[in-house]
Amino acid sequence: MRALTPDAGDVDLAERYAYPPEGTWLRANMVASLDGAAQRDERSGGLGSPTDQHLFLLLRGLADVVIVGAGTVRAEGYGPVSPSEGWDGVRDGRSSVPPLAIVSRTLDLAFDAPIFTAAKARTIVLTTASAAPARLETARERADVIVAGTDSLDFPAAFAELAARGHRRLLCEGGPGVLGQVVAAGLLDELCLTLSPLLLGGNPTRILNGPPVAVPPELALAHALLDDDFLFLRYTRSR
Ligand SMILES: NC(=O)c1ccc[n+]([C@@H]2O[C@H](COP(=O)([O-])OP(=O)(O)OC[C@H]3O[C@@H](n4cnc5c(N)ncnc54)[C@H](OP(=O)(O)O)[C@@H]3O)[C@@H](O)[C@H]2O)c1
Repeated sequence: MRALTPDAGDVDLAERYAYPPEGTWLRANMVASLDGAAQRDERSGGLGSPTDQHLFLLLRGLADVVIVGAGTVRAEGYGPVSPSEGWDGVRDGRSSVPPLAIVSRTLDLAFDAPIFTAAKARTIVLTTASAAPARLETARERADVIVAGTDSLDFPAAFAELAARGHRRLLCEGGPGVLGQVVAAGLLDELCLTLSPLLLGGNPTRILNGPPVAVPPELALAHALLDDDFLFLRYTRSR
């Protein structure tokens, strides 16, 4: 065992969190309390800090597409992605923002809301063949739609289609329902986890919500950064 002694001085976050130069890579970014809560008052915002928010936005800037479950879109009132402070140079010739890719079976989404009508990069909807035809038609008017799977999204096929459309640097912002399935499908390459210095109790969800993962991925600690009692952990697939 050894001590993790913080180095003096600031780190270059864009360099620390750079995606591999080639190939498809799926990163998830989540925040949890010390007792494992992924929610505070039904949302995640109360768990973070200004630095966590800065990193959240930077990771968006580094990504080609931001995947998120419809549950999180509804709970957090998601809007479209906007360019952010600290993005200088990180978009390197790509569109000014990455599109959101929303996972939804029911397509119970506010298609008249800015997340669809004011997005600088057209929002993508990842859904299944069993989606209600009328909602699917509306979705196709307001978004790019990828249909994969019949009753349940075929995550490997949907993500392969995103990669085929040029989105090789994938960022998943959860929520726990979606992340549980992404991990179970063996798709996760990296977990960025902010550990928030809070003890909340109760029965909030953890960062993965779903059945046990049959083959848990083996992850190695790539770095641990410290800011204001928050730990910023980066784990990558070790094999
Ligand atoms: N701590 C963190 O870092 C963090 C991050 C994100 C979110 N959160 C919190 O987590 C909560 C939301 O998470 P959640 O787990 O309830 O929702 P979620 O994972 O964001 O989204 C779940 C939704 O995704 C769609 N979906 C999931 N699996 C599907 C499949 N196999 N096929 C087709 N569609 C599928 C369904 O949408 P439809 O219902 O539209 O069919 C489902 O209701 C909120 O409280 C949020 O604040 C925390």
